[in-house]
Amino acid sequence: MRHEPLTQIRRDHAETIEDTWYAVARARAVPRARPLALRRFGRDLALFRGADGRIAAVDAACPHRGADLAAGRVVDGALQCPYHGFRFAPDGRCVAAPCEGRAFRIPAELAARTWPVREAHGFVWLWWGAPRDVYPEPFWPDGMPDREGWRTATGALEWDVPLTLAIESNLDIHHTPFAHRRVTPGLGHRLDPYEARLDGDTIYSGGTLRRDDERPWDGRSGLGITLNCHFPALIFGEFRGGRLLVAMAPIDVTRTALLFRYHLDVPVIGGLLARLAVWSELRLVQPDDLAQQRAAARSGLPLHACRFVPSDRAIVLWYSLYRRRLAAQRAAVPRS
Ligand code: FES
Ligand SMILES: [Fe+2]
Repeated sequence: MRHEPLTQIRRDHAETIEDTWYAVARARAVPRARPLALRRFGRDLALFRGADGRIAAVDAACPHRGADLAAGRVVDGALQCPYHGFRFAPDGRCVAAPCEGRAFRIPAELAARTWPVREAHGFVWLWWGAPRDVYPEPFWPDGMPDREGWRTATGALEWDVPLTLAIESNLDIHHTPFAHRRVTPGLGHRLDPYEARLDGDTIYSGGTLRRDDERPWDGRSGLGITLNCHFPALIFGEFRGGRLLVAMAPIDVTRTALLFRYHLDVPVIGGLLARLAVWSELRLVQPDDLAQQRAAARSGLPLHACRFVPSDRAIVLWYSLYRRRLAAQRAAVPRS
């Protein structure tokens, strides 16, 4: 694991926060008969369903001679390598080595490396950190439906920017009237009132985008938005009539996978609107975000050189927590 100066963390995403769940894929993306190839945390993984339907994750490099397990298929609940047909159970054990015959005693070292995964709320969650006997449940915010419903829709995409920049973008309320003016015409530019605070592992932030009439807020006008972050990489929030959730995970140090879900509390047409919201995220909103985040990544502007303003407070809180967690992580793991 690389250890870079903290000033580089916006650009390089040098270290990943450990000992937590990351949502890495939609559960429906893992079929029964074949594995899902997935690159996360800089590793090539193969996800597959065992005989009981539960999802398992292994390193895609076959422990026999390195062929791609993600290109194999699932046979009797075990993942079969496409090269010599060795089969690996969900716990990584090799359960068949056809070239050696059934009587062969398969050595224990001939095992695929496994990663703890859970299927919950329609997503696959991967535990990135030290293995445990008992794992906590993946965090899920109150009020967000935990599966596709008739007022709920889910989407997935990948950004070629580091996780830190993707998180910045999704914790940022005040870019909306500028970066997304195509989909939010007429939205006020002033973020007032606004507050952001840290409570345990969660950053709560919320504010109202309104026209700047140089008067105190009247308590009604504008668009209220909350954007909260369950540290490190799950953002959830509310806006008028709906909720959204964005769950992120690093593909590697320069790329990020994003899963997002919209829930629209609108009778009859809520489902249609939720699907429309996902479509507009994919086609209109996220490309505008990505353009600016790519520029920020290219600029190499380090964290210490960013001139944050009060409306950036949620992002500042995120980085301060990141800084503390990295320090604790480094203290806990002897550096090589
Ligand atoms: S490399 Fe996978 S079975 Fe030989
Ligand atoms: Fe955005």
